[in-house]
Amino acid sequence: MREGQLAVTGNAYDPDGGDVVSYQLLLLDPNSPSGAPLYNVTPGPLNSQRFHLGAVTNASLGTLDLSVVQNGAYLLKLVVRGGGDIASASLPIAVNSNLKIGQFDFACTDCHGQAANKWIRGQWLGEPKGQFDHFPLWRTSRNEIWDIRKRFQWCQVAIWADDLPPDAKEYGDLELYLASLNQGQTLSVPGIRH
Ligand code: HEC
Repeated sequence: MREGQLAVTGNAYDPDGGDVVSYQLLLLDPNSPSGAPLYNVTPGPLNSQRFHLGAVTNASLGTLDLSVVQNGAYLLKLVVRGGGDIASASLPIAVNSNLKIGQFDFACTDCHGQAANKWIRGQWLGEPKGQFDHFPLWRTSRNEIWDIRKRFQWCQVAIWADDLPPDAKEYGDLELYLASLNQGQTLSVPGIRH
């Protein structure tokens, strides 16, 4: 799964003709399947009970948006209501989605996570924590002052991905994430890097 979108097909119907059918797709903790669902991933539109209205016979139940679901093992549970009846079925699934970008198919964490704190091609590959404190900085190799958004763009170009405009929402999210990792650290601006 690359983009966190999963198309699901199946059945959600009631053999008693005439009953109104609705269904729900939930992710449960496989270690406590009777506990409260961890995520309701039912494709919209949802009714007031957070079910999707309409019967489906061996066709698309919709595309699940798993982009905000934490990686891990889950039970995907289909709950179907028809009139007063209720039925369900579950199936184990694993969510392992790193959003990969660019022609080399990289996620930021492929380098700055698993491979962090090592030299790569003669350059130091930093971990996510501690990236925020030294921006804006002076880049001796470019003779320029860079803010962190320009640095994001540079890393995206290096992995052959399209860089985003400096005011992109995604960069705002990244900046907030890096800033949160930096909590408690002293700022050391202006920084200097080659
Ligand atoms: C292919 C590996 C790789 C990937 C993938 C990658 N980076 Fe980097 N990144 C590097 C290397 C190597 C450096 C340090 C060398 C340099 O200055 O170019 C670096 C430097 C940085 C720095 C500056 C560190 C400093 O000390 O000032 C930031 C911030 C950064 N990356 C963010 C990102 C973000 C955000 C992404 C995902 C969009 C990303 N990187 C993806 C390899 C990678």
